[in-house]
Amino acid sequence: MTHELIASRLASASSNATSGNATASGWWRDAVIYQVYVRSFADSDGDGVGDLRGVRERLPHLARLGVDAVWLTPFYVSPQADGGYDVADYRAVDPLFGDLSDADALVAAAHALGLRVIVDVVPNHTSAEHPWFRAALRDPAARARYHFHPGRGPSGELPPNDWESVFGGPAWTRLPDGDWYLHLFAPEQPDLNWEHPEVSEEFDSVLRFWLDLGIDGFRVDVAHGMVKAPGLPDIGHGAQATLIGTEPLPFFDQEGVHEIHRSWRRLLDSYPGERIGVAEAWAPTSERLALYIRPDELHQAFNFRFLNCPWDPAAMRTVIDESLAATASVDAPTTWVLSNHDVVRHRTRYGSLDRARAAALLMLALPGSAYVYQGEELGLPEVTDLPDDARRDPAFHRTAGQDGLRDGCRVPLPWAGAEPPYGFGPGGTWLPQPAGWGDLSVAAQTGDPHSTLELYRAALELRRAMPGLGAPEAGPLTWQSAPEDVLLFTRPGFACTLNTRPTPVELPAPGRPVLSSAPVETDGRTVRLPPDSCTWWAM
Ligand code: NOJ
Repeated sequence: MTHELIASRLASASSNATSGNATASGWWRDAVIYQVYVRSFADSDGDGVGDLRGVRERLPHLARLGVDAVWLTPFYVSPQADGGYDVADYRAVDPLFGDLSDADALVAAAHALGLRVIVDVVPNHTSAEHPWFRAALRDPAARARYHFHPGRGPSGELPPNDWESVFGGPAWTRLPDGDWYLHLFAPEQPDLNWEHPEVSEEFDSVLRFWLDLGIDGFRVDVAHGMVKAPGLPDIGHGAQATLIGTEPLPFFDQEGVHEIHRSWRRLLDSYPGERIGVAEAWAPTSERLALYIRPDELHQAFNFRFLNCPWDPAAMRTVIDESLAATASVDAPTTWVLSNHDVVRHRTRYGSLDRARAAALLMLALPGSAYVYQGEELGLPEVTDLPDDARRDPAFHRTAGQDGLRDGCRVPLPWAGAEPPYGFGPGGTWLPQPAGWGDLSVAAQTGDPHSTLELYRAALELRRAMPGLGAPEAGPLTWQSAPEDVLLFTRPGFACTLNTRPTPVELPAPGRPVLSSAPVETDGRTVRLPPDSCTWWAM
């Protein structure tokens, strides 16, 4: 069945569906949220860097795609040492991306299209160019808002503890006057000291600033990191990088962060229209991650266990079950995510476009909220052959190129045309685009019933038209018996099959196919599931 057929069959059913109704209750519980990496989405002024006006001009693409909300990565004033996650002024737009009137116009245009807008907030660290840190460099008396400490060793020549930066190397940098400061990320991103009352006061004010401008929520960067264990104790053994997200660490997932999230929830709830907080948090278990989304804390947390899951049906089933159970215990929706601006695109991780398409249909059939990273709806692969001198990821440069390969998923999007910049903007692109992306552009895929873009459009349309496909309240997910390497689950009126084998698999048809990532053959009684495919069934 083609996507067009499905679309017409659904047209009447979906005509009543609302898109981002501003007063709907619990909109975020099953929302599909599209991540815009602003630098790489669309460039309106020809400087090769995407900007807010570019996003505004391309909003119709997102409305047509059928998402509920847009999450914008940081566009605040920043030296761009870490793609804008180094903020020098939390209340101003970097001239690279426009100005406040562009932010205002973007929010208004999105709302007019029924799309909500979520922005990033970066509370764990500022830029080294933030006025507070500049003052701290000048004057030791102004250092209490950060973590400045004397070093160890006879003349303080050793860092205060053994913590490592997530981007490689020590988490401490020494100033010429002998003091060391903490940066869990790049040296240009000094960690704030959340014990200092001015820090929380300042962030309350920053949140209010953007809420007053009309945004619908925040994606909270490093939501697990703001509070450090008292005394900043050593970890005591090496291999810190492998422990992140799997073991308790003195700088991540400390109890104190929950008090901050509780107070932010109160602040969010004081605004009308269900403004939400989304935690980018790494916790050792699904249960600990669920603590971030208790009813009085944030609304959602990214489910990185799903993102990290290999193409293995048993592992997928376990992650799905454990994620649903953990979030149900706190009465929150589960989130599902396959790609973002920090990881290798899932088409490349899973090894093929077929698997990427299948994984997308699996994700969009699960109860809860789903995150779509820009370009995955085009089936973009990771760009793996960027020249070293084009790369901007600070981790790449801090580990002599062994790590931090986060540029390959950030290459500017292809919109139209056969040659770079493929309609990205009137100039070049800040990262080079590969040859051959013309066939992957939005224009090339639009109207092609076999394209990945039309698959996403059809899936999102169906998600709206089949009441409650994404909604946890619509009923439980039940696993049914299936051949080896095949996952089959049902929800009320609906079934989903995933064949993870590289060969076709035959089984009794669970219903009538309504959407598939690859053509399915069925005589109504049995079905031959194509290799590496996912199919949605009406029952
Ligand atoms: C998580 C963000 O997604 C990533 O891009 C950034 O480098 C770190 N937090 C530090 O802010």
